[in-house]
Amino acid sequence: MTTELITGIRELTTQAGESDSAGAGLPAGPGRRTDAALLVEHGRIVWLGPAAEAPVADTRTDVGGRAVLPGWVDTHTHLIFAGDRAAEFEARMAGQRYAAGGINTTVAATRAATQEQLVAGAARLRREAEAQGTTFLETKTGYGLDLASEERSARAAASVADVVTFLGAHLVPAGMDRRAYLDLVTGPMLAAVAPHADYIDAFCEVGAFDVEESREVLLAGRAAGLGVRVHGNQLGFSGGVRLAVELGAASVDHCNHLEERDIEALAGSATVATLLPACDLSTREPFPPARRLLVAGARIALATNCNPGTSYTTSMPFCVATAVLQMGLTIEEAVWAATRGAAAAIGREHGADAVGSLRVGGWADLQVLDAPSVAHLAYRPGVPLTAAVWRRGVRSRRGGGLDASGGPDA
Ligand code: NIG
Repeated sequence: MTTELITGIRELTTQAGESDSAGAGLPAGPGRRTDAALLVEHGRIVWLGPAAEAPVADTRTDVGGRAVLPGWVDTHTHLIFAGDRAAEFEARMAGQRYAAGGINTTVAATRAATQEQLVAGAARLRREAEAQGTTFLETKTGYGLDLASEERSARAAASVADVVTFLGAHLVPAGMDRRAYLDLVTGPMLAAVAPHADYIDAFCEVGAFDVEESREVLLAGRAAGLGVRVHGNQLGFSGGVRLAVELGAASVDHCNHLEERDIEALAGSATVATLLPACDLSTREPFPPARRLLVAGARIALATNCNPGTSYTTSMPFCVATAVLQMGLTIEEAVWAATRGAAAAIGREHGADAVGSLRVGGWADLQVLDAPSVAHLAYRPGVPLTAAVWRRGVRSRRGGGLDASGGPDA
């Protein structure tokens, strides 16, 4: 294995805090540094510091004055599906409100698809995400909703994603008795899926599952060894947020409709509020009160929620730009929420398998922007700025601006 020096970094965002030993000669704290370099070996960063002090390496990649930051950590996707729901989207844009029942359309298409089709579709979306800087990705079951379909969805998910969530409690499938379905999800279906999954989730919402039902599902998942996450307060005051905090969930996702007591509960907990701005645009729901969450002391993450119903995008840059331009986050808050904040939401903030930050000893999961600064992510919205991506030390995205002559616009 050779060492690779990545140098010529105009602006380096490490997201490494004081306790993370960001690198030799660099001040502590998550802020941006100038004229930095980093050395990669065996997939990990083994040195990080001022470019002028960089060690000799076997190979050297000069990023030409561009900005480098951790790869995006996308903690909320639903990639295991077939078909699309463009007609439903069009109707929504003409004024129809989103309702949970649309999930049944995707369930029918997913059950009819072959395993190869499900895996190929999810792998295509993962590649699409990685081309936009995503280096760590969660995905879910939830469009199978019978034992065999959920089990194979979990296997498909495990073949394409870094973390798998069991979302049998997405909807009671059409034609099924509610109590019988809950018994299935918490019994045989859980037993079949758990070996392939890391987390359990429930869609705690009007039209899906109420608080009591969600608690039953989540506790069963926890008893089977899974971590807990919740879809909460997307379409109304569902109680999902406070349930997530009560159960010590890693994350509660959506959070569009929050009462003061929800915000207080989140602020006093380790549960991360994962915000999904692309979904909010596509469903025309009000954005979550991101500023109020931050002021109260709650932690937030940003994710795409890629799915065919409410958010058919894999673009973390789009989510970051929207969070800045429409939700009132600063650039640094949005980039943090999509990297280090997201790592907290998926239980990967600390330790040898930490993601979402660049630190000595950590994975070399990073992206180069065809821009001198992360500010350009929102300053130049909609422009494809991903110049290169390294995942576990391997450069997966070539071309783009990095291999062209000249540097980014100053
Ligand atoms: O996160 N909210 C629940 N699940 C998805 C949407 C699923 C669908 O409509 O297909 C979401 O938005």
